[in-house]
Amino acid sequence: MTEIDAAKVSWQDQYKLMVGSVTPRPIALVTTLGRHGANAAPFSFFNAVGSDPAMLMFSVGDRSGSDKDTVRNIRETPEFVVHIVSDAIKEQMNICAVDYPLGVNEIEKAGFTTAPSRRVRPPRIVEAPVAMECRLMQIVDLGRKPYHVVFGEVVYFHYHEGIVNERFHVDAGRINPIGRLAGKGGYTRITDRFEMPRIPYEGGAAGE
Ligand SMILES: Cc1cc2nc3c(=O)[nH]c(=O)nc-3n(C[C@H](O)[C@H](O)[C@H](O)COP(=O)(O)O)c2cc1C
Repeated sequence: MTEIDAAKVSWQDQYKLMVGSVTPRPIALVTTLGRHGANAAPFSFFNAVGSDPAMLMFSVGDRSGSDKDTVRNIRETPEFVVHIVSDAIKEQMNICAVDYPLGVNEIEKAGFTTAPSRRVRPPRIVEAPVAMECRLMQIVDLGRKPYHVVFGEVVYFHYHEGIVNERFHVDAGRINPIGRLAGKGGYTRITDRFEMPRIPYEGGAAGE
């Protein structure tokens, strides 16, 4: 075994261990609204966290000691839209991660089309196969190198045609999401899938 005591490792090396170990990570492309207009940025410290209500989280580091635009906007307008990043929109997502100066609209730079959301003020990105309109539940500020963990309640779901059926089963193959690996440009697709049904516990109540 290689053993590493986190207390003896710099934050930069702990970052490398985290992003290299927790893979693949889904990518949230998050739209927000602030006084400078709409903003979009991707976050791979992202996941679903609950279902009543539907809840998700993503985690945003600081930029030079200040809030990134996404967090600043959510503090101003406590709503956002989380889009799942598919293979089809990966290059546009990457443009949204460029550190443009305040006031530059990444959504336009990326060539995305927006549409009004149904329940929240930030717009949604039409090209994304899944868009989840969220209301802010809580921002939890954590860490010596600060991260702002944003929790949201999903209040409205949008899917491109053919992704979700009438029984609410979602076809991940039709979303065709990409996942983030480590390094400057590491990503993966879900092109090698398999099934492994849960083993029922004989004589007990079913869990999740
Ligand atoms: C695939 C991908 C995943 C990213 N994940 C994160 C993340 O989880 N947390 C974070 O703070 N920054 C992450 N970034 C960097 C932000 O997207 C970047 O800092 C962006 O400019 C922030 O935009 P904003 O200032 O408009 O909020 C990621 C970038 C890429 C390309």
